[in-house]
Amino acid sequence: MSHFIFATHNSHKVKELKAMLPQLQIKTLIDLNHQDEIAETASDLKGNALIKAQEIYDLFGGAVIADDTGLEVLALNGAPGVRSARYAGEPKNDTKNLEKLLGALKGEKNRKAQFRTVICLLTNEKTLYFEGIVKGTISEKAVGIGGFGYDPVFVPDGFNQSFAELPPEVKNHISHRGLAVQKLVQYLQGAR
Ligand code: IMP
Repeated sequence: MSHFIFATHNSHKVKELKAMLPQLQIKTLIDLNHQDEIAETASDLKGNALIKAQEIYDLFGGAVIADDTGLEVLALNGAPGVRSARYAGEPKNDTKNLEKLLGALKGEKNRKAQFRTVICLLTNEKTLYFEGIVKGTISEKAVGIGGFGYDPVFVPDGFNQSFAELPPEVKNHISHRGLAVQKLVQYLQGAR
């Protein structure tokens, strides 16, 4: 297995994944000119990762990888979680999501949170899942211009800078998606 379809239109995720997996040939939904948005209707990350992978596998076959990510904030009982992309409603908007999150945590002392990614690998033979978690805290305000989504307010444990301030290679090494990808790679190396 060296050719994959990554079931996403998110150019930030594509850039991250290609940097982490330079040894693999990865086509994305942009390369395949598949423009339709895939409805994320499951009640958890694993379910959404499978929906995305299945829809693209049914259309194109091959080996498909899809990820779903949620930001889980302790003081908000795990919200926005599986609703992270549409936390502030439709249409999805990263800036509004971030503002809503900072508003919800105004005055809150406990700012512990984690990003969680589930990657689904779907082929004609199997359906496998790989999970990555990074723990951290939500800052009082957005800092940094790198990354995407909630990166400007997420400070990973052991660092003083947000994901949006850290160099991409550092984020990729320690991030939720980075850790899930490392597990995927370990699996692929063992499966050879
Ligand atoms: P999805 O996996 O594309 O559905 O992402 C869910 C939400 O989490 C979206 O609002 C993304 O912008 C956000 N998100 C996903 N991955 C990251 C990340 O690595 N950093 C910050 N936000 C992310």
